[in-house]
Amino acid sequence: MSETVSRFIFPREFVWGVATSAYQIEGAWNADGKGESIWDRFSHTPGNIMNGDTGDIACDHYHRYAEDVALMKELGVQAYRFSISWPRVLPNGKGDANRAGFKFYRCLVDELLESGIEPWVCLHHWDLPQTLQDAGGWVNPNIVNYFADYARLVANELGDRVKRWVIFNEPRCIAWLGHLTGIHAPGMKNLKSALKVSHHLELAQGKAIQTLREVNQGLQIGTVVDLNVVHPISDDEKDREAASKLDELWNRWFIDPIFKGEYPPLAEKVGLKPDQDDMDLIKQPLDFLGVNYYTRLLATNDPSNPLTRAKVVQKKTPTTEKGWEIYSNGLYEILMRLRTDYGNPTLYVTENGAAFEDNIIKDGKVQDDDRMAFLRDHIAQAYRAIKEGVRLNGYFVWTIIDNFEWAEGYSQRFGLVQTNYQSLKRTPKKSFYWYKQVIANNGVSFP
Ligand code: FCB
Repeated sequence: MSETVSRFIFPREFVWGVATSAYQIEGAWNADGKGESIWDRFSHTPGNIMNGDTGDIACDHYHRYAEDVALMKELGVQAYRFSISWPRVLPNGKGDANRAGFKFYRCLVDELLESGIEPWVCLHHWDLPQTLQDAGGWVNPNIVNYFADYARLVANELGDRVKRWVIFNEPRCIAWLGHLTGIHAPGMKNLKSALKVSHHLELAQGKAIQTLREVNQGLQIGTVVDLNVVHPISDDEKDREAASKLDELWNRWFIDPIFKGEYPPLAEKVGLKPDQDDMDLIKQPLDFLGVNYYTRLLATNDPSNPLTRAKVVQKKTPTTEKGWEIYSNGLYEILMRLRTDYGNPTLYVTENGAAFEDNIIKDGKVQDDDRMAFLRDHIAQAYRAIKEGVRLNGYFVWTIIDNFEWAEGYSQRFGLVQTNYQSLKRTPKKSFYWYKQVIANNGVSFP
């Protein structure tokens, strides 16, 4: 029997990594002077998180980071993207720094560097200090300056050894999930506020980029957006219009201002009309854009939605446990779109991964062939995009260890390593060894 093997070998400099975020793994929610974050408050409020889970302990990475870095070293990743908890280093969001908080990140960074892993620091992955929320949070325009001051402080502390900086993770989620649908902290449901938040995030991003460049010209600065392909459910013109509006709200809202200096048309329609100075501040040159990709959205016409006249519909296709359609081709589409419509920026896939039930166990190890197939198919699409001229320089799996999955608590597992939430023991899954091989071979092969 003859078998065809296809190999997708990446350029030599291609970076393989894994990603996490502070609230999802650190735990130690009130240790050593850390302030409360909006995710602490949100998860401590009954009814917000599945099964009443909280990030109080999470993976206890705060105390076990050395073990986690050792796992990454064994995996062979060249880069690790993690976030700084703003209230851990600035308990009140501004004012006096918490030395113990910085000590933790300094030790983590040193451990990574000694292990030959490049630290990628994300300044904000959603855990805003609660004291700033009490003063209006992202709705308050002063947040732009508070965030820039925080960025300066962190860059001063870590800029001597960290070269890669990510301003935000997925501002879309902060704006729309945190302030419009309310399923994320701070749990607000108010269109007017959400619009303000989206704009303040963009301004804060622009100002933070400027600030980091002032602190140190040698830094590589980017930001991370989550982009989903949006397709109409049918060829009907109304469905196509719905998909296009949803695309404006989900995708273009957060990339058009950076690359084109303007919001998509929907913004003006809903009353967001910023002046030119604001747009100039937002349109800062980036060294790279990070793209998180998980799924496709299928849209249909829904006149009852005053914002987009669209709603997302679920089609009967294979999904991950999150209910997200598995659609690897979408990664290729997104990357190609950035090449064609956004000036072909330097890109990294900063998150891609899948939650599965992980219930097939052999010799004490999770046999997650479904996760391996998911990752393999997406990596192949990334390769296809590179071959067509996309400037994609790296790929990060979400995530190294199972962790706190926001509103879903611990019910969704995305890790290459299984976390036992009672004993906190880490056990690599089959996909861990598979990804190790991908990195060693600098690519994937089929079948
Ligand atoms: C992304 C988030 C990340 C993780 C994955 C599954 O939207 O950035 O923290 O929860 O989804």
